[in-house]
Amino acid sequence: MKIANIVGARPQFIKAAAVCAAARADGRIQDYLIHTGQHYDADMSDIFFTQLGLPRPDVELGIGSGPHGQQTGQMMMALEGTLSDLAPDVTLVYGDTNTTLAGALTAQRLGIPVAHVEAGLRSFNRTMPEEINRIVTDRVSSILFCPTKASVENLEREGIAAGVNLVGDVMVDVMRGSVTWARMGILGDLGVRTGGFYLMTLHRAGNTDDHERLETILKAVAKLPHPVVFPAHPRTRNKMSEAGLEPEGNLRMIEPVGYLESLALQMHARAILTDSGGVQKEAYWLGVPCVTLRDDTEWVETIETGWNLLAGADPELIAAGVERFPPEERPPLYGDGSTARLIVERLAAGPPWGESMPKPKPVPVRRAAARAVAAAATKASAKPPPKKKGAVKKSTKKKASK
Ligand code: UD1
Ligand code: UDP
Repeated sequence: MKIANIVGARPQFIKAAAVCAAARADGRIQDYLIHTGQHYDADMSDIFFTQLGLPRPDVELGIGSGPHGQQTGQMMMALEGTLSDLAPDVTLVYGDTNTTLAGALTAQRLGIPVAHVEAGLRSFNRTMPEEINRIVTDRVSSILFCPTKASVENLEREGIAAGVNLVGDVMVDVMRGSVTWARMGILGDLGVRTGGFYLMTLHRAGNTDDHERLETILKAVAKLPHPVVFPAHPRTRNKMSEAGLEPEGNLRMIEPVGYLESLALQMHARAILTDSGGVQKEAYWLGVPCVTLRDDTEWVETIETGWNLLAGADPELIAAGVERFPPEERPPLYGDGSTARLIVERLAAGPPWGESMPKPKPVPVRRAAARAVAAAATKASAKPPPKKKGAVKKSTKKKASK
């Protein structure tokens, strides 16, 4: 069984690290790693390979940054040749980035079954590029590895049931294997102590590309009562300089950190502010209250348990959210750390996979409309055939004569 893992962005290196390690341990899968080059700075790419023991990519496409269409299109053009040459039995894509979409569409077009890790997640916000990437990727996937019951239900609602596997979240596996290696030294380097700082990550287009919203968030966090350590994503740094925004007050902007430093900062933070999908979950697993700087999230369970709060860009909610008391209960969410093994076992078991491009189930409204049409048709066919002109006249006459 030959599997092509397609990665390109920071969270995908982390997720693939778990799957590639499980594949090596299992031994039945020959796995290849293709790096699209969506992320390329050393602190957005290389560091994760080094820290997580992810093997160097077999193929590096070096696509880099660009507008969505150009970036996705160039990835597809390069992937077409690579996947054709490699001819894997399955292509494995992760999450919801442009790399995910390009990998899924190209493989599907080549007739290579697509497996999607983190299938079925929905924010129900179609202005997010990631939401469209998720929907399209799930649509063309034959094997859907879902992290949560809610994600399975989202797929069911879209008529996707074949090939769905509820396996949990591979990020639990990575975290469990790394937490003892967390690099605590970063706290001393930054001059912060346990419980005496907040950690913020911010990179979503919805926050960074709207200058006014970005400014509101940065000004709100600058006024918080403790230092806010902010490893800034390059996108955010660029947008801040475009808008002429400088870190002020308690905001301590630094370069992006490695995964082991990120874990250390999260574990010791007083609270976490983020718009990252991965960080919302890590905050939960580490038992640190989280304030999500978005109006929606696909990780709804973290909200339902009270550990995460959707604050959007509202300064009052942000200030209150970071100082709130955490709930007493923190039930285990998103699996027990064996997700990567379950994924590898399913892949190694081989076909049959689910159908690619399943037919959608009709939604109830449509069913009701169809029933109304059917009822009208039945009623119409039960009526006697239209009478000839003469006959109508005859009956009219008869009525009139009564
Ligand atoms: C992408 C994903 C997002 C994910 C995030 C993880 C899409 C549409 N978005 O967002 O879902 O949460 O990755 O971090 O795929 N840049 C650099 N160096 C790098 C990488 C990026 O300077 O190594 C800068 C470039 O100016 C680039 C910008 O960051 O234009 C945005 O990068 P891009 O990969 O397009 O999107 P992300 O914001 O990283
Ligand atoms: N992360 C990191 N260094 C940072 C910021 C985040 O290692 O400077 C890690 C974080 O711990 C999590 C992952 O990157 O494991 C989340 O990736 P990101 O926020 O870029 O993407 P998202 O999860 O939102 O798609």
